[in-house]
Amino acid sequence: MHKMNKIQIIEFPQHGDERGHLVIIEGSRDIPFEIKRAFYIFGSDPDVVRGQHANRESEFVLINVAGKSKVKVKDGEGNEAIYCLDRPHTGIYLPSMVWKDMYDFTPDSVLLVLASTYYVPNEYIREYDKFVMEIQKKNC
Ligand code: TYD
Repeated sequence: MHKMNKIQIIEFPQHGDERGHLVIIEGSRDIPFEIKRAFYIFGSDPDVVRGQHANRESEFVLINVAGKSKVKVKDGEGNEAIYCLDRPHTGIYLPSMVWKDMYDFTPDSVLLVLASTYYVPNEYIREYDKFVMEIQKKNC
């Protein structure tokens, strides 16, 4: 399947009541992988671009649990898509080997990221040209 078609918008179960909202995310149930790592990004200025990498192994789910940001995803073959992250009960699933840029952070943005792997620096590709070369190699 084409990489861009693997991207999914996922609605999480909500259990809100008069006391407030509660959103539940269970690994392998509500998202397509077992969660090995979680990290969150906040306090990024609106003109900052984060990410700017692809991952050879890791899959991610991105959720703006507060505020807003955007993520631009590229497949290295000329296709790209932009997703607005602005709902605490909606996640975006990103497969491995897609390039991602996160930007347009609002001051209140808290971007939660769930990952399928522990942190391994050398599975990150941080140069776009290198990413494109690896994609081309895979297609041979
Ligand atoms: P970086 O990958 O640049 O963050 P982002 O892609 O969200 O913009 O990571 C910033 C620093 O944090 C970098 O020194 C690596 C470190 N880091 C970890 O040690 N573990 C992790 O899981 C992540 C995501 C980053």
